[in-house]
Amino acid sequence: MKLLSNMTIKEYVALRKEEIKSLVAGLERKPCIAIVQVNEDAGSCAYVRGKLKDADELGIKADLIKLPLETTQEELLKVIDTLNQDDIHDGFIVQMPLPKGIDEEAIKLAVDPKKDVDGFHPLSSLVPCTPKGIINYLHFEKIPMQGKNAVVIGRSNIVGKPMAKLLLKENMNVTILHSKTTQEDMAFYIAHADVIVVAIGKAGFLDNRFTYKKDAVIVDVGISRTDDGLKGDALAGLPVGLQTPVPGGVGLATRLALYENLLEIYGVNK
Ligand code: GUN
Repeated sequence: MKLLSNMTIKEYVALRKEEIKSLVAGLERKPCIAIVQVNEDAGSCAYVRGKLKDADELGIKADLIKLPLETTQEELLKVIDTLNQDDIHDGFIVQMPLPKGIDEEAIKLAVDPKKDVDGFHPLSSLVPCTPKGIINYLHFEKIPMQGKNAVVIGRSNIVGKPMAKLLLKENMNVTILHSKTTQEDMAFYIAHADVIVVAIGKAGFLDNRFTYKKDAVIVDVGISRTDDGLKGDALAGLPVGLQTPVPGGVGLATRLALYENLLEIYGVNK
C-alpha cells in the first residue's frame, strides 16, 4: 500500500505532540489532570510513568494520587468524589486494572462524565483513549476505510467494543472475533481483512499461520512481557502493508489521546 505520510506511529505522535504543546502554551491557565493509581503492576507503572512524562512535555499539570494496594472500594469512591467536585483538576483517570475486591465497573460509573478523561462512563461524550488514538492515526495515514473489511480481535469494554463502533462509524464492514471464535473462522476473517485491530494480550498471536491481504493494516494493541522482552499480539514483520510496532506503537497514540480528551474537557478542541 502506498502510504501518504511514510511516517511511523511514533513520528506521528511526536508531530501531534508539538501541535498540542503550542496550543497549551497559548492557554492562560494550565490544564490539570489527576491520575489515580491503586495497583503496583509493572504494566500500570510503565503506563503512568509515560503519562506523567507526556504531561510534562506538553506543559500540562499532572498530579499522581498513589493509593495503597489495600485501598477499599469505599475509600477509592471517596477519592473519586473529591476529584469530581474539586475546581483544580479539569479531569482525572483511575488507572486500570484495579486490585481484586474493587469493582471496576462501579468505579467507572462513579467518575463524573464531565471529568472522565478516559471516556469510560456510558454518558461520557469522549471516546476512550486507545480507540481514539488508533482512529486518529488511521485518518492521519489516510487508510481507506469506507466499505472495507475491519476485523477487531478482542471484545473488551476499553478497546474492542468501542473500536468496533468507531470503525463502523467509518462505514467499514466490522467483525469482532474473540476467544470463542473457531480457528477456521479466525483464519477466514483475517484473510479478508483490510484493517485488523488486535487486542487480546497474547504475544505473537497473529503470525505466519494466517494469510493476510498484502495491503492489510495491522494495528497491534497488545503488550506482553516475555523472556524475550515486550511483545505485541502480532509477530513483527508480517507480510502486510502496514503494521504498528510494539513497544513504541499504539501505546504512544493512546497516551496522546488522553491529553486530547483533557483538552476537549478544558474547552479547547485540539
Ligand atoms: N489501563 C490500560 N489502559 C488504560 C487506559 O487507557 N486508561 C486507564 N484508566 N487504565 C488503563
